Amino acid sequence: MTTEKTVQRLVAALDYPMVVVTAVAGDTRGGCLVGFTTQCSIHPPRFLVCISRRNATHDVALRSRVLAVHFLDRGDLELAELFGEETADDTDKFTRCEWDEGPDGVPLLRHSAGYVVARVLRHDQVGDHTALLVEAIAAEQRRPFRQLGFQQVRDMEPGHKA
Ligand SMILES: Cc1cc2nc3c(=O)[nH]c(=O)nc-3n(C[C@H](O)[C@H](O)[C@H](O)COP(=O)(O)O)c2cc1C
Repeated sequence: MTTEKTVQRLVAALDYPMVVVTAVAGDTRGGCLVGFTTQCSIHPPRFLVCISRRNATHDVALRSRVLAVHFLDRGDLELAELFGEETADDTDKFTRCEWDEGPDGVPLLRHSAGYVVARVLRHDQVGDHTALLVEAIAAEQRRPFRQLGFQQVRDMEPGHKA
């Protein structure tokens, strides 16, 4: 078996948290389900968010000054399906969920368990994804939650193949 296949098999057994990342640039809003994300600094609070270059969200995120990273509860499958299985190439996801404008106009999803709004510091090509380094400028926890994990959504059909 090739190294790449073995890596795929190993990471398929992990259960990392799934988030929905939203962005806005001008009049264009974008958002997708993301598994490739991690906190990478405590003081200041920073995260790395990796967006596939194939996603419609990619170009919006690269033009955005801020992103919103939404934390999902294991019951938030509807939001996960909307943002993970639909693409803005075919549908306006923001007519199909409730949201409010946050800092810089970034969409904040009303039914997420909580969110971090973060300023984009820089982005780097890291392979077939672009890594955005972001720093929290606002955050809210709306309710206690148990994370939606990769194992719960691994059979979803992504709107765009990675
Ligand atoms: C389990 C799962 C994990 C995903 N992880 C990521 C990810 O880490 N980064 C990413 O850019 N897209 C990821 N996606 C894919 C996007 O959420 C999906 O292709 C979405 O439909 C893209 O929408 P857009 O074209 O409107 O941006 C994932 C999808 C699923 C189902």
